[in-house]
Amino acid sequence: MVREILVWPHPVLKQKAEPVSVVDDSTRELIKDLFDSMYAADGVGLAAPQIGVLKNVIVLDTTPRQPEARPLAMVNPEILTYEGKVEYREGCLSIPGEAEDVDRAAVITVRFQDAEGQTQTLTCDGLLAIAVQHETDHLKGTMFVDHISTLKRELIRKRMKKLQAAQEAEKKEAAAEAKKSKSRARAEAR
Ligand code: NI
Repeated sequence: MVREILVWPHPVLKQKAEPVSVVDDSTRELIKDLFDSMYAADGVGLAAPQIGVLKNVIVLDTTPRQPEARPLAMVNPEILTYEGKVEYREGCLSIPGEAEDVDRAAVITVRFQDAEGQTQTLTCDGLLAIAVQHETDHLKGTMFVDHISTLKRELIRKRMKKLQAAQEAEKKEAAAEAKKSKSRARAEAR
């Protein structure tokens, strides 16, 4: 099911997620919702806190940029090693329309449990390595904007507040419109 993606600075995005003790059907349901929501929003990665679930689960699919990659679901991901340095212009589904250069390790090794609960270790580079670092950051309540200058971050915060205010106004308007047409229909029925 496609879930609503929270927009920064939503307070849940700042919280630390909890480890998953047992990988079960509810975990697999969460993984499916994450994939559905990520693909619907045309993203390459999504973390559970972004749909309001404070659990250590992330999904990734960098295949559009890395044909050798594959869709990955990671439960309790833990980055074991970081090597090299790379700068990449990152975006985030919780910060729509924004992108900034962020420094990341070029090569990482990550240990996680898959959807069956099996422990796996993966060494990766390129966009996948960046995406894993970005998504595991979400599990610690860290956003990519926490890696950029305060000035840039505050400008983005202002734009997000504006965007949220516009979205709220739109929702209210739609609700008022729905109410109006409902009472109109009732009046006509009389
Ligand atoms: Ni993100």
